[in-house]
Amino acid sequence: MSKNICFIDGLEGILKYREIDVNQLIELTYDSVSYLLIQGELPGAQELAIYSACLREEREINREIINIISMYNFNIDAIEILRTIVSFISQFDPDIYDSTPEGNMRKAIRLIAKIPTIIAAYYRVANGKEPIPPDRSLSHGANFLYMIRGSKPSKLEAEVMEKDFILSAEHELNASTFSSRITASTLADLYSVVVSGLCALKGPLHGGARTEVMSMLEEIACPENAEKIILEKIAKNEKIMGFGHRVYKTYDPRGTVFKQLSKQLAEIKGDMHWYETAEAIEITVVREIVEKKGKPIYPNVDFYSGVIYRYMDIPPQLATSIFAIGRVSGWIAHCFDQYEKKRVIRPRAFMLDEC
Ligand code: ACO
Repeated sequence: MSKNICFIDGLEGILKYREIDVNQLIELTYDSVSYLLIQGELPGAQELAIYSACLREEREINREIINIISMYNFNIDAIEILRTIVSFISQFDPDIYDSTPEGNMRKAIRLIAKIPTIIAAYYRVANGKEPIPPDRSLSHGANFLYMIRGSKPSKLEAEVMEKDFILSAEHELNASTFSSRITASTLADLYSVVVSGLCALKGPLHGGARTEVMSMLEEIACPENAEKIILEKIAKNEKIMGFGHRVYKTYDPRGTVFKQLSKQLAEIKGDMHWYETAEAIEITVVREIVEKKGKPIYPNVDFYSGVIYRYMDIPPQLATSIFAIGRVSGWIAHCFDQYEKKRVIRPRAFMLDEC
């Protein structure tokens, strides 16, 4: 694993996984990119076929898990359920105490495969419907949409979902990956590592921003309202969700792709309304914060992905958990890297002043 898991140039807006630009990676499948992150190299045809088959084989969740999901309060965000269920299912994993590379890889496959099924099952049960078993003939993205809806998505929607998972898969030492890495540094098991990631991802300054973006789009409702409402938020010193980034001081390269994809979806669906509302928000933020105040606050990964979910009829309660479907491969890649170091991460308190 010599290649860096991730490279970000925040001034030029460049993002690479294992030295490959994300603009190239979005032309691949999520399975390929997941393999790349975890194994360090893109898979050959046979390796990919085996990896994809293993993932598809492990998508099912058992009835006990659905029963636990059914006991939940259905007004909560899906990430809450996911956090608990990932922890709960570790008991069913025959490799839970096998910390060999092979045992860890089997756990990784189970986690990547089952997370979409858990989220979809929650969504179906919360809406009074039977969960839909996964379809092994479908890609990771298409299968997720199928398990939510009960019907197969269009080719474009399936591709957009795959690209969403790919673009969400990895981003160096963001808050959730750092949390995961700290847990991995104690040599805790992979389920604990992923739960740590989920806990940090949930916050509105990180993965939770996507849900907030969807709520803001609903609040603003049409392009004509955007300027007035955004100006009010700025006047109240509120942060505009889906904008700004600790590392990028220019447009987030993932934001650029999501913007193009949301426009494509809008045109195909013959409904420009969400796209134009988002664009009106962006124009106001860039004019008021970037141009007038000189702060580099551009759309980040969460802004136009929130628009995409609006077009794909994905409710806000699922948005953050969908981020986790993609990001889990990045957490696992960092975990395996950290396991090799066999050294606990132990910063000193004074370092917090620099965070
Ligand atoms: N809207 C308005 N102003 C903003 C925004 C925003 N979204 N983001 C930053 N600013 C302003 C801050 O108010 C601050 O102004 P000041 O210098 O006058 O005090 C300045 O820009 C720097 O902001 P910080 O919060 O210090 O920047 P930091 O790098 O720490 O924060 C963060 C990055 C947390 C992402 C921030 O931009 C933010 O809160 N954005 C909104 C939430 C969001 O979209 N989060 C998702 C990020 S992507 C991800 O995690 C998957």
